[in-house]
Amino acid sequence: PPLDEILNLHDFENIAKQVLPEKAWAYYSSAADDEITNRENHAAYHRIWFRPRVLRDVTKVDWSTTILGHKSSMPVYISATALGKLGHPDGELNLTRAAAKHGVIQMIPTLASCSFDEIVDAAQPGQVQFFQLYVNKDRAITKKLVQHAEGRGVKGLFITVDAPQLGRREKDMRMKFEAEDPSVVSKSGSQGVDRSQGAARAISSFIDTALKWDDLEWFKSITKMPIILKGDALQAYDSGVAGVVLSNHGGRQLDFARSGIEILVEVVAKLKEKRGLSFPNEKFQLFVDGGVRRATDVLKAIALGATAVGVGRPFLYSFSAYGTEGVEKAIRILHDEFEMNMRLLGARTLKDIVPEMVDASNIQSH
Ligand code: FNR
Repeated sequence: PPLDEILNLHDFENIAKQVLPEKAWAYYSSAADDEITNRENHAAYHRIWFRPRVLRDVTKVDWSTTILGHKSSMPVYISATALGKLGHPDGELNLTRAAAKHGVIQMIPTLASCSFDEIVDAAQPGQVQFFQLYVNKDRAITKKLVQHAEGRGVKGLFITVDAPQLGRREKDMRMKFEAEDPSVVSKSGSQGVDRSQGAARAISSFIDTALKWDDLEWFKSITKMPIILKGDALQAYDSGVAGVVLSNHGGRQLDFARSGIEILVEVVAKLKEKRGLSFPNEKFQLFVDGGVRRATDVLKAIALGATAVGVGRPFLYSFSAYGTEGVEKAIRILHDEFEMNMRLLGARTLKDIVPEMVDASNIQSH
C-alpha cells in the first residue's frame, strides 16, 4: 500500500511481514523462547491509564526534550537493532537520514550492516548519534571501537549488559545463516561468524560472557562519553554511570524478564527511597524500551520518570518496506500522536506530565 495509507506503527509491522524475505522477518520479529516477555512488553502498557487535565489552553504544545543534554524533537530515540541490510539495501543509513531530517537521535549498533564510519559519515553536521556496544572478549578491540566512536563525535556509549549470550530465538534459529549473508554484517563490529544457528547466534559469538560490574571502571578510564547500561541494572546508579535503559532487549533475551515500564515504577520508587532521587533526573537518566508503539506509551513512561524511550522494530519495519521515507513517516506519525495526546492530556510541555497523570496502580512496585 502507498505510504499515505499507513496510519500507525503497527501498520509497518503488518506490511513488513508481507514484504520481507522470510529470513529477515524471522530475525527481526523473533523473541526468546515462548516470546512471553515480548508480548508482555506491549501488554504492560495496557495496564496503565491516564488521568488527564482539562481547561489548560493547549493551543501550543511542545514535546521536544533533551536526552543526555542533547536536543531531541521528541522523547524517543532510535534504539540499536542489528543487521539493517536484511531488510533494505541501505540498511541503517535509512535511519540516519530520517533522524537527521526530524531531529531524532540514532543509536548505532555494534552489529550494524553498514560500517560504523559509513553511518557517521551519513550524518548531517551537528546530528547527534549514540553508540551501542557489545563488549568483545578481546578488550583491545573494544577499546579501539569505543575510542574511535568518541573521536568521531558520538555522544553516548550504551553498553548492552543483558546479552552475555544471545537468547534462543527459535523462529530465527530455524533459518540457517547462509553463505551469501556476510554482506549484512559489517566487519567493524564482529568476527568469527558461526553460520549454523540463525542470524542472531551467528553474529554474536564474540560477546564477552565474563563482563562484570568491576569492569565499568575500565570503561570510564578509556572514554569521556557518558556511559549508559542497556539492560535492567539496579546497581547502575551506585556504579556511577550516567543512566540506564530498562530494557529486556525487545523480549529477545531472558524470557519472563519483566517489562521495562513495570521495572521503571520499581526503580523510581527504590531510588527515591534509598538514594533520595527524583525523576526525571539530569544526573542519572532512566530510559525504557520494548513494545513502544504509540505516543501514549511514551507519555506513560515520561509520567513515571523516564527521560525518553527507545523504539526498535517499528523503525526496522518502516525502512524495510519503504526505505528512508518509511522511517520519516514513522517519525511523523509519532509527532502527530504526541501533538494530539498532549492536548488531550492537558500538558503543554513534557514537564507538565507528572506521575499523578497516570494510574499505574495495576503495576505498583512489589
Ligand atoms: C535488537 N536489539 C538490540 N539491542 C542491542 O543492544 N544490540 C543489538 O544489536 C540489538 N539488535 C536487535 C535486533 C533486532 C532485530 C531487534 C528487534 C532488537 C534490541 C533493541 O535495541 C531494543 O532493545 C528493542 O528492539 C526494543 O523493543 P521493540 O521496540 O523492538 O519492541
